[in-house]
Amino acid sequence: MTETVIPVSPDVAKSASVTAESYEAMYAASVKDPAAFWDDHGRRIDWIRPYSTVKAVNYDYPDVSIRWFDDGTLNVAANCIDRHVATRGDQTAIIFEPDDPSEAAQHITYSQLKDEVSRFANVLKGLGVGKGDRVVIYLPMIPVAAYAMLACARIGAIHSVVFAGFSPDALADRVNDSEARLVITADHAPRGGRATALKSNADKALRRCKDSVKLLVCTRTGGQIDWVEGRDFRYEDLAETASADCPPEEMDAEDPLFILYTSGSTGKPKGVVHTSGGYLVYAAMTHEHVFDYKDGEVYWCTADVGWVTGHSYILYGPLANGATTLMFEGVPTFPDASRFWQVVDKHKVSIFYTAPTALRALMGKGDEWVTKCDLSSLRILGSVGEPINPEAWSWYHRVIGKGKCPIVDTWWQTETGGILISPLPGATPLKPGSATRPFFGVEPVVLDDQGNELSGAVSGVLAIKDSWPGQMRTIWGDHARFISTYFEMFKGYYFAGDGCRRDEDGYYWITGRVDDVINVSGHRMGTAEVESALVAHEKVAEAAVVGYPHDIKGQGIYCYVTLMEGVEPSDALKTELANWVRTEIGPIAKPDVIQWAPGLPKTRSGKIMRRILRKIAENDTGNLGDTSTLAEPAVVDDLVANSVHKQ
Ligand code: WT7
Repeated sequence: MTETVIPVSPDVAKSASVTAESYEAMYAASVKDPAAFWDDHGRRIDWIRPYSTVKAVNYDYPDVSIRWFDDGTLNVAANCIDRHVATRGDQTAIIFEPDDPSEAAQHITYSQLKDEVSRFANVLKGLGVGKGDRVVIYLPMIPVAAYAMLACARIGAIHSVVFAGFSPDALADRVNDSEARLVITADHAPRGGRATALKSNADKALRRCKDSVKLLVCTRTGGQIDWVEGRDFRYEDLAETASADCPPEEMDAEDPLFILYTSGSTGKPKGVVHTSGGYLVYAAMTHEHVFDYKDGEVYWCTADVGWVTGHSYILYGPLANGATTLMFEGVPTFPDASRFWQVVDKHKVSIFYTAPTALRALMGKGDEWVTKCDLSSLRILGSVGEPINPEAWSWYHRVIGKGKCPIVDTWWQTETGGILISPLPGATPLKPGSATRPFFGVEPVVLDDQGNELSGAVSGVLAIKDSWPGQMRTIWGDHARFISTYFEMFKGYYFAGDGCRRDEDGYYWITGRVDDVINVSGHRMGTAEVESALVAHEKVAEAAVVGYPHDIKGQGIYCYVTLMEGVEPSDALKTELANWVRTEIGPIAKPDVIQWAPGLPKTRSGKIMRRILRKIAENDTGNLGDTSTLAEPAVVDDLVANSVHKQ
């Protein structure tokens, strides 16, 4: 099989921040002496007290400890705002494009951003929030979400953003786990022409939280909401009298900046902790070089601030670089499938960063939605969240990028804080479907199941040797789980949970998760979380959940459900269960397939054999592998005969 290789465009290389030659030299230097490399690059941000130590990392199990720029102090918000005001106060920092295209877009300058964030910070202080306190942010994609995050950073509070698509239960779990003293929400969240009752969700969630938790409500739609006197505060009321002057708090490099919950292979989401100095240096450095960001360009990442992509590449990375970053409240298909491209056209977007699932959905609607827009402002395209299939890649390259825009396929995770493997536009020849080569300071390795490093062109498990500044530092409240999840299985490495192949050119091809985590529309979902939601239903005795290939979502959610004695299976019950999971976790967790399972395939010791369930869901039943350890082999025949593929 001959592989497609797209050479670096000389046009892009001419003005790029990194070229093929400088990449090789910089990469070599970055792994030869990481401390010296990051000593230089750490200075790209402003420090209140400069650091004298750069890297203090121990990767030896079980004493793993990760610290960067340890004795430096800084303020992240001041780096993202104040230091730009003198030189680019009137430049737009944030372009806000609302859900409804007939509503006016907003342009917020760096000077305005400073006032808004400072005012928000003073409101937080007025509510008793201080350094180290946790604040949960449950907001739509509106500028206020950025103000709230940066206001926390300004006063040293730790934010934990919860995606507005998550359910009241999921919100309550995160408020309780982080022991937040304040939740910030809005009345309603418009999205795709509909509005989610966010405040009402927050009301439900807070019934499950401590009485002392306060609720700060921002106005988005002005729609009807309930009010709890003494607990609820209206942001606009408090902001009226709040000063627009709030000196940034001096923070240690290793003080936590935020907690972001993500699914793991057990039922309980992990509170991934990122700290201030290393995270910001890494987010800014990757944003500049991976997207080859140039002063004055409009940059648009379509993610939601509820995910890490929104943290690092809508907010912190771009703003630290003084960029103009676009925040979009809507969805790609509202009011029609042309929306993304109209926004690119309207705001003259140069750099566009999205997820393969969105591209697949839009590709299916036909090219006429694209060709009626002027996309000539586009220079660089990006992809993130899951492997991008060759069809989507070529459509993106040909129809969106007109064959002239490099596509950076960026591999990273909530845990990594920033991009670890990706092409650089002016340096890396592209291979569709490959995240290509590591960023500076990142040393990927391919391991076999025993943890031996493999060399040359091979497949195995992806791990990272040594630390990089943007790495997560711990799991909130559970450092032991941090060590056991990422450092126990393969000692001396960071274990990412992905499988990969490395080809003869040293390019990395991510092949998907090797644990019980699935990737639905670029969002991570622990199958155990869906299972716990299902068994929480009174009619369900047992459930097993696996992923299966899905045309648009990448992976769909396939559930095998055993009902309680005496409960009659029916299609109505399937719908009820699917909606149940949707309300328990959120719309992204809604099952795609439910199959009744009179029994589940188990080993004699009672362990569910997911490998077999995966094969059935993938309709790959020709070779079920070793079934000799099954307690009741007949169970499998029944599941195969009744799988969704046999109907
Ligand atoms: C998992 C991390 C990082 C922001 C979005 C997701 C998968 C991510 C790629 C890519 C292949 C990818 C991996 C990873 N993934 N980017 N370019 N190619 N797979 O963050 O929710 O923490 O999920 O997403 O499986 O482990 P996340």
